[in-house]
Amino acid sequence: MTKKLANLGLYGLGTMGSALALNILDNGFALHVSNRTDSVVADFVTEAGDLAARLTPHNDLDQMALDMPAPRAIILMVPAGAPVDDAIARLIPLLDKGDTIIDAGNADFNDTRRRTGTVEAAGLTFIGMGVSGGEEGARNGPSIMVGGTPQAWGAIRPMIDAIAAKFDGAPCADHLGPDGAGHFVKTVHNGIEYADMQLIAEVYGLMRHGAARAPAEIGQIFEQWDKGALKSYLVEITGIVLQAERDGKPAVDVIQDKAGQKGTGRWTVIEALKMGQSASTIEAAVAARGWSAEKETRGVGEGVLGGHRGAVSLPDGDYEQALLAARIIAYAQGFRILAAASDTYDWNLDFARIAEIWRAGCIIRSALLDDISDAFRGDLPQGQLFLAPTFADTLKAATPALRRVAGAAIAAGHPVPALTGALAFIDTMAQARGTTDLVQAQRDFFGRHGYEDIDGRTGQHGPWWD
Ligand code: 6PG
Repeated sequence: MTKKLANLGLYGLGTMGSALALNILDNGFALHVSNRTDSVVADFVTEAGDLAARLTPHNDLDQMALDMPAPRAIILMVPAGAPVDDAIARLIPLLDKGDTIIDAGNADFNDTRRRTGTVEAAGLTFIGMGVSGGEEGARNGPSIMVGGTPQAWGAIRPMIDAIAAKFDGAPCADHLGPDGAGHFVKTVHNGIEYADMQLIAEVYGLMRHGAARAPAEIGQIFEQWDKGALKSYLVEITGIVLQAERDGKPAVDVIQDKAGQKGTGRWTVIEALKMGQSASTIEAAVAARGWSAEKETRGVGEGVLGGHRGAVSLPDGDYEQALLAARIIAYAQGFRILAAASDTYDWNLDFARIAEIWRAGCIIRSALLDDISDAFRGDLPQGQLFLAPTFADTLKAATPALRRVAGAAIAAGHPVPALTGALAFIDTMAQARGTTDLVQAQRDFFGRHGYEDIDGRTGQHGPWWD
């Protein structure tokens, strides 16, 4: 049976686009599709099999827009950046008032805000929609973060709720705020994703290079951890990946240690810094990917500076606890960025709801998210996740292990920037008085910047100016 809704179109049948299109068709919706190259469209019709009954293929975007009856809702699944602007520029003259353009890629939220202005000035509606879950999620149920007007959300909600992942039967999708809010939340999701992946890789590195354990053995430990407090998609796939073989060797051993990035992790850090926030775990993860790309320099560096990497021997429970503490900080830092953005852009983000829609379908789904949503619905000291009783108790119990792991890694010469970044954040937030009194004194000394004294008087100067 075909369900009646706005006439849906999807442009961009790459890996994610075709998976999302099949998901939409599978859920009973009729769909128009097109792609930059039309051979891809023909292949997609074949791939759709029986689902093609609800499918109307078109050879290009313009033709699709012209052939679709209004009201239209056209989903763009093209690479972020210029291809999105190009598609919008082509669609604007062809669409009618009341039609909607939905960008479902990993857009920079600044672009989404700009595009919302352009599209709405033309009398159309724009939705910036973050979609997480990789290919599998797009096909069988992603987590969906929507930004746009409530009216625009209302018009597509039945379809979005149907295709989204479900947690306890409820869709992992929601309208989070206006214009760029959905894409911003997806960007921070990816920032947390980068941090969690880096933390896992650092722990793996210590077990592998510090204790010479085989990847498969470490994979089994991750498999066990996935049954406890670390339960999550990323720990689960780490267990699988580390136990996999390629040509009789551990699969991970035949992969070059150079990580790419498409931008979302970096954008998280850039936007955080612009708002005066600093997310040490995410920054460390972005930096580690950048350094990893300098493979040749590292090769030369090993000869010049290397040779000192030593053994690390700690109980597995220490690694598990260290990862748990650092993961809590990664989420907490991500939500601090969301809080800053909510204030800066007046978005009124519902943090509990965001945690809820991340519980299924997305890459950072984990057992922690239930506690995170509960914490946001309760009374949060200072509005800070890491001070919520449940997380404060866990951090108090797990931080000594994080300290042992980070300490042992540093002593033996293993880089663990994300683990130490998490620890530095905990230690900074755990002391009411630190050392920026001296920084303030220096600023006043060389620039007469003035400081606030311990009695709360601002504009004070040190004796060096008497
Ligand atoms: C997701 C992923 C997905 C993708 C990102 C990160 O939520 O499904 O985050 O969007 O993995 O684009 O990619 P990079 O690691 O290449 O930046």
